[in-house]
Amino acid sequence: MAGSTLEIKDLHVEIEGQEILKGVNLTIKGGEFHAIMGPNGTGKSTLASAIMGHPKYEVTSGSILLDGEDVLEMEVDERAKAGLFLAMQYPSEITGVTTSDFLRSSINAHREKGDEIPLMKFIKEMDSAMDYLEIDKNMAQRYLNAGFSGGEKKRNEILQLMMLKPEIGILDEIDSGLDIDALKVVAKGINKLRNENFGCLIITHYQRLLDYITPDFVHVMMQGRVVKSGGAELVERLEAEGYDWIKQELGIEEETVGNNA
Ligand SMILES: Nc1ncnc2c1ncn2[C@@H]1O[C@H](COP(=O)(O)OP(=O)(O)OP(=O)(O)O)[C@@H](O)[C@H]1O
Ligand SMILES: [Mg+2]
Repeated sequence: MAGSTLEIKDLHVEIEGQEILKGVNLTIKGGEFHAIMGPNGTGKSTLASAIMGHPKYEVTSGSILLDGEDVLEMEVDERAKAGLFLAMQYPSEITGVTTSDFLRSSINAHREKGDEIPLMKFIKEMDSAMDYLEIDKNMAQRYLNAGFSGGEKKRNEILQLMMLKPEIGILDEIDSGLDIDALKVVAKGINKLRNENFGCLIITHYQRLLDYITPDFVHVMMQGRVVKSGGAELVERLEAEGYDWIKQELGIEEETVGNNA
């Protein structure tokens, strides 16, 4: 079988003693594009952070496996090296490190010592990805995300994605704050990666991104769980009708994580 498989089973996660994820089940295989939708505060970003190993998020039970390997046993850098990539909802600014240096060291961190990417090859690849994403070349020499506009930060996340070529990409609201042209460019970048060796989890609130990137599976998160899954047709229904029908169907009164059981 081509590509990697990320398997999340009955995942429970706490933040500062409060349970946020209450049994998430989700499997993403190479070549599959999954979308997660859901109202605010239902645990979507928490899931992304827990997969990547953010120290604030404590996994209390359940498992995350990448090709059968226990991701929860891995340090954050090991998770990246194993092929997981997260584009964050709010990318951090890193002053003192240029975008170009950051990209090059990230790529080299995935390679063995002595097998670093040759500088000229790196520059060529970066230039071509920047062209593809219509990113101003000056960006390469600016500190990572420092003073970048909202849209520039998001494009930069896709630049990293295109250059690092992870096995599994998790994109948390990659479309937020993008104007319509930037949205198309970002979608174009993600679609370019579509192949049997790349699985993707796209967290979004809006149909408009999914008009450009057709998901194979769509999941709805409420109360810290995936409560409904379907195909691309689910997106249209959510856009037209909102979430109330799912809440009614499942007898959910309060969809956020809150203190519900
Ligand atoms: N670091 C944190 N400290 C305290 N509470 C947190 C933290 N991260 C998340 N939470 C809480 O967990 C709940 C779920 O948050 P999360 O960010 O996962 O929601 P979300 O589904 O991504 O929402 P949105 O659609 O608004 O991005 C919220 O009530 C949030 O306040
Ligand atoms: Mg979020």
